[in-house]
Amino acid sequence: MNYICLIGKYGCFITKRGQDFNSHLGIIKKDHLKIGKKVKTHLGYEFFVTKPTLKDMMEKVLKRVPQTISLKDLSLLLALTSVKRNSRIVDAGTGSGFSSIFLAYFLKPCKIFTYEINKKYIKIAKENIKTCNLEKYIIVKNKDIIKGIDERNLDLVHLDMENSEKVIKHSYKSLKIGGYLCVFSPIIEQVIKIRKEISKYNFSNVITVENIVREWQYEKYLRPKTTGIMHTGFYTLAMKTC
Ligand SMILES: C[S@@+](CC[C@H](N)C(=O)[O-])C[C@H]1O[C@@H](n2cnc3c(N)ncnc32)[C@H](O)[C@@H]1O
Repeated sequence: MNYICLIGKYGCFITKRGQDFNSHLGIIKKDHLKIGKKVKTHLGYEFFVTKPTLKDMMEKVLKRVPQTISLKDLSLLLALTSVKRNSRIVDAGTGSGFSSIFLAYFLKPCKIFTYEINKKYIKIAKENIKTCNLEKYIIVKNKDIIKGIDERNLDLVHLDMENSEKVIKHSYKSLKIGGYLCVFSPIIEQVIKIRKEISKYNFSNVITVENIVREWQYEKYLRPKTTGIMHTGFYTLAMKTC
C-alpha cells in the first residue's frame, strides 16, 4: 500500500508514502518515515511507523459511493463459510469495492469477479482496489448480474445488492458443490424473497443471521455506548449440495 500509519499515544494518522507528515502535533520529514521505526515530530510527539490495517484504509483512505458493507458482517462471512485462499469468488454489486477488497485482502491469492452496473461506481472501486494493491486478484466487470454469471466452479457467491433474489438461480448454477451463497440484505422483506428462492434449489445448511456488535464506553461509567451502528442487515448463507 502506498500509505503508512503513525501510531502513538495521541492517535493514529495515515499518510502517503514519500510525503512529509504534517499535523497539529508537528512535522516529520519524509526521510525519517520508515516502517518499523520510532520517530518524533519537531514538537516532540513520538510515533511508531507501521503499515496501515485494512480497517485504517477503509475508515480513513478509501472512497465510498453507495452504502458499503461493514467489517463486522464480512468477518462473520469468513467465519461461517471457512472460504479459503485460492478461492474463486463472485461478488455483486461492486459498489465502492469494499467487499471485494476485504475478501482479496484475506484470501489472496484468489480470483474475485465483481459485477457492477454503474460505471461511476466502477471508477471509484478500481481506484480503491489499486490503492490497496489488490488489482491482481480482483476483476471488475461492468455487467448486470441478473442477466447471468459467466464464471463456473465458484467457491463463493456474495451478493449485496437490490433484487438479489433474482440471482439465486444463476448462483446455484455457478457454484461448485460445497460452495457457499451469501446474501446480505438490509431488510427482512428481502430475506423472505431470498429464502423462498433458495428453497427451489439443492442448498443445505441454510441460515439467516444478524451480527450485533455493541461497543462499550470505559470512561466514567462502564456500560454500552449510547451511539453507534445499531442495525446493518442480515446474512443468508446456503451451501450448494447435489
Ligand atoms: C450496497 S452496494 C454494494 C456495496 C459493496 N458490496 C461494498 O461493500 O462496497 C450495491 C451495488 O450493487 C449495484 N447493483 C445493483 N443491481 C445490480 C445488478 N443487477 N448487477 C450488478 N450490480 C448491481 C449497485 O449499483 C450498487 O453499486
